[in-house]
Amino acid sequence: MDTREKYKKYVNTGFLPAVDPLVIDRAEGATYFGNDGSTFIDCFAGISVVNTGHANEMVLAAARQQMERLVHCSSYLYHVEVVADLAEKLAEITPGDLQKTFFGNSGAEAIEGAVRLAKRFSEKNEAIALTHSFHGRTYGTLSLTGNATRKHGGGPYMPGVAFAPAPYCYRCPLGQEPDSCGMACARAIDDVINFHTADNVAFFVAEPLLGEGGIIVPPDDYFKVAKEVLDEHDVLFIADEVQSGFCRTGKMFAIEHYGVEPDIMAMAKGIANGFPLGAFIARNDIADAFQPGDHLTTFGGNPISCAAALANIRFMEEAHLAEQTAAKGRRVTQALGDIKPKNATIGEIRGKGLMIGIEMVEDAQSKVPAVADAKRIKAAMRDRGVVIGLGGVYGNVLRIQPPLTISDGELDTVLGAMREAMQA
Ligand SMILES: Cc1ncc(COP(=O)(O)O)c(C=O)c1O
Repeated sequence: MDTREKYKKYVNTGFLPAVDPLVIDRAEGATYFGNDGSTFIDCFAGISVVNTGHANEMVLAAARQQMERLVHCSSYLYHVEVVADLAEKLAEITPGDLQKTFFGNSGAEAIEGAVRLAKRFSEKNEAIALTHSFHGRTYGTLSLTGNATRKHGGGPYMPGVAFAPAPYCYRCPLGQEPDSCGMACARAIDDVINFHTADNVAFFVAEPLLGEGGIIVPPDDYFKVAKEVLDEHDVLFIADEVQSGFCRTGKMFAIEHYGVEPDIMAMAKGIANGFPLGAFIARNDIADAFQPGDHLTTFGGNPISCAAALANIRFMEEAHLAEQTAAKGRRVTQALGDIKPKNATIGEIRGKGLMIGIEMVEDAQSKVPAVADAKRIKAAMRDRGVVIGLGGVYGNVLRIQPPLTISDGELDTVLGAMREAMQA
């Protein structure tokens, strides 16, 4: 039986519409090597994870070294040097007064912990999240996820969650135009608090750049206005940087584009370049709200993952990866912009850094999501040796989220393949 057949027989994949028919043997930089000798340019980075490139030697060396010393002791039962070092580093690179970190193993776990802490600190128990959002697959995080396609068959979910309209300008839920809306979607948070909750709201959670929802980029003033509303109601802001963090958008964290300091920030994915690690960091006064017994996890803060993360962040700093990513992102969006006039089905190209989405529609007027077309283009890209992602609440947004170390030459190949795939 080959790997594909074993997957079919023994791996639970019923939740996937389809498994890509690729068997990846190894990877290096932005290249996947298939087990049949094929190669692919990776433009999805394991869902926006491998930011400093596959097999990054600096990260691997740190992980190897740590593996020889200590794999596990439960980093909350005993102190481990590299865990402390990483926490110190995160306090240094995150915005504002964020200082104390809790380490878990995944994005969902980071959000779960952040929620628990926000409730403990505020002594309030309601939540506000955004429509079109995605925060993970546990019950708590699905409760905060504003997308029914992720929630089918799993309810009822956690009570006390209200949803504010997503800052999705291409399909404004409030029927407004970006130039004249007065940031109505951010101001709507006030109405949500007043009319959809018992005004006992502990936190507002949002992705600074919505990934799974379709690479939705909130307008420049969105978070400033949102934060003003939150402050009026004494509501904490949890930034979900799980997908947008660690240079992905051309800044270390995407919230830096908006000049707003979150009270708590959740991270995972790109933090350790593929080693499993999740974390949330909070201001001191908030973090200290946890009481003995409130929180813990056996595997959280795994020393190998933490060593990998420290080296990963060092690599980002030494390579000026955020600036490099911003420049590459500008180049790609500009080149895609040149393709747009020749392709009536490209509705919008948007993103920051190398977190880029192409929303496919049947035509510019109707904006009917062109789901089949998006799937076709994704497959045509693979036929041309490039793997990309597909997402959005309608499944019609092509996602370009490669390792950030991808070369200009590789990006040119990707753009060439995209031009052909659009016409195929
Ligand atoms: C913004 C965001 N938050 C949370 C998660 C959940 O992370 P994980 O899959 O590591 O649990 C994801 C995963 O895609 C995400 O994109």
